[in-house]
Amino acid sequence: MANFTRRRFLEDSLFAAAAAAALPAGRAFASPEADTTSPNDKLSVMVVGLNGRGGSHIGGMLGQKGVEITYLCDPDEGVGNRRADDVEKKQGRRPKLIKDMREAFDDKSLDIVTVATPNHWHALAAIWAMQAGKDVYLEKPVSHNVTEGRRAVQTARKYKKICQTGTQCRSNPGTIDAVQHVLDGGIGEVKLARGLCYKRRGSIGPAGIFDPPKGVDYNLWQGPASERPITRRRFHYDWHWQYHWGNGDMGNQGPHQMDIARWGLGWDGLSESVISYGGRLGYEDAGDVANTQVAIHRKGDKTLVFEVQGLEAKPLRGAKIGVIFYGSKGYVVLTSYTSGAAFDLDGNLVKKFNGGGDHYANFLKAVRSRNHEDLTADILEGHLSAALAHTGTISYRLGKKVSIAKLKSALTFVKSDDDSMETLERTLVHLKDNKVDADKTKMTLGPMLKMDPKTETFADNDAANAMLTREYRKPFVVPGPEDV
Ligand SMILES: NC(=O)c1ccc[n+]([C@@H]2O[C@H](COP(=O)([O-])OP(=O)(O)OC[C@H]3O[C@@H](n4cnc5c(N)ncnc54)[C@H](O)[C@@H]3O)[C@@H](O)[C@H]2O)c1
Repeated sequence: MANFTRRRFLEDSLFAAAAAAALPAGRAFASPEADTTSPNDKLSVMVVGLNGRGGSHIGGMLGQKGVEITYLCDPDEGVGNRRADDVEKKQGRRPKLIKDMREAFDDKSLDIVTVATPNHWHALAAIWAMQAGKDVYLEKPVSHNVTEGRRAVQTARKYKKICQTGTQCRSNPGTIDAVQHVLDGGIGEVKLARGLCYKRRGSIGPAGIFDPPKGVDYNLWQGPASERPITRRRFHYDWHWQYHWGNGDMGNQGPHQMDIARWGLGWDGLSESVISYGGRLGYEDAGDVANTQVAIHRKGDKTLVFEVQGLEAKPLRGAKIGVIFYGSKGYVVLTSYTSGAAFDLDGNLVKKFNGGGDHYANFLKAVRSRNHEDLTADILEGHLSAALAHTGTISYRLGKKVSIAKLKSALTFVKSDDDSMETLERTLVHLKDNKVDADKTKMTLGPMLKMDPKTETFADNDAANAMLTREYRKPFVVPGPEDV
C-alpha cells in the first residue's frame, strides 16, 4: 500500500476508525528505490496463510540455509498457533504470530513474504509486500482476476522485487527436460497442447449460513472481496469451489498444467480467442464453480485446451493431472509434476523425463542475485498462466445452458487442430460414466471471446471486460496502473 493509497484510505470516513485501530502509527512504505533486502545476511521470512499450503512454505523455507521464519500470519488463531508451535520446535525460535500482514510490513529486517492465502488475497498481498520492499513467493493462481495479476507484475518491476510464482513444476528437471524436448522439435511441429485436471471433487455439502470458526478474524479473511456470509460447511479450502473467493479447478489446477502447455507452445502472452463450456454437474451443493469444464484457447495456428473432469475420470494417454503435447512426429505426455515421456506416432516410447527440483531454493537464489531472470517462474509467467484460466472462466460464466445438440453444432465452428468434437465426446462419456444425463441437465456454453493479448482486454465485449477485475472492498484495494 503506497503512502498516498494509505492516505486515501484513511480519509475514507467509513474505514478510518478501523484502519487507525488496525495499523501501527507512523508506518511508511518503501519508495521504489528503497531495498530492504540484505542479500548476504540471513534472510528473514514471513509466511502468510498457514493452513494447507502454508505448511509446505514453512517446510520449504526451513529446509534452506541462511533463512529464518520471523513472522507467521493468519487470521485464524488456531491455525496460527499450531504452526508457530511447529516452527518453534524445528527452528528453535518462535516466530511472531500476527493476524494482519500489514503489521509486519514496516519491519525493515523482514526480507521475504510468502503467500499461501486463498486466491482472492494473492495479488493484493504480493503488491503490498513488494511496495513495502519485500521479495515475494506467491502461490498460484497469482491472481483472482486478470487485471490484478498484471498489476502484480508491474509492481515487481517498478520496485525491482523478486516475485516467484508457486508453480513448482517450473523447477523440476523432469518437466523442464520434457518441455525443452518439445521446444527443440523433438516431436516435430506442435500445434496443440492439452492440460488435464481429471480429479474427483466431491460435493461440499448443501448451502447454508455458517459462522466462521472460533478465533478467525473474518474481516481480514475476506479482505479485498466484498462482504458475504459463509455459505459452505467447511470454512478452509472449500472456498476454491465458490467464485467469490476461488477459481474452480480451471484456476486451481489449471495454472500448473496450462502453464506447462503455454511454455511448450512458446506463448509469451495471452491467447487471441477463447471459448469455454461445462457445468457443475453430478450434485447440487454450496459450490458454484464448474466441476466439468473445457476451455479452448487459440493463438495463430496453435491451440491450448484445458479440460476439467471433476467426477470419477479415466486417464488420457496415461495422464490424469498432466499435459499432452501433440507433434507431427510424436507426442509428449507429462503424467506428474516430475515425470513424463516422449513417444513416436505409433505410441513407442522414445524418451523418459524424470526428476524433482527445489522451487524455494530457486527463489532464494534470485533473491540473493537480485535478478528476476534467475527465477524459473517469474511473476510474469504466473500472471499469464493464471490469466488463461480466468479468460476461459469468463467465457464460461457469460454462457447459457444449451442442449448437447446445440453444443455440438456450436463447436463444429471452432477452428482448431484439436478435434473439439473429440474433446466434447470425451466429456460426455465422463458424464455418462458418472450417471449424469447431459441431455437433461444441459451444459453451459460461453461465447467465443476475442482478446487482444497486448492490452489483455476483450474486443467489443463490455460484459467480458467488466469481469477482468472486481469491486474491491476498502481498504483492501488493488491499486490502479499509475498507483502501484
Ligand atoms: N503450488 C501448489 O502445488 C499448491 C498446492 C496447494 C495449494 N496451493 C495454493 O495455496 C493457496 C492456499 O491453499 P490452501 O489449500 O492452503 O487453503 P486453505 O484454505 O487451507 O488455507 C489458507 C489459509 O490462509 C489463511 N488466510 C486467509 N486470509 C488471510 C490473510 N489475509 N492473511 C493471512 N492468512 C490468510 C486462512 O485462514 C487459511 O489458514 C491456494 O491459493 C492454493 O491455490 C498451491
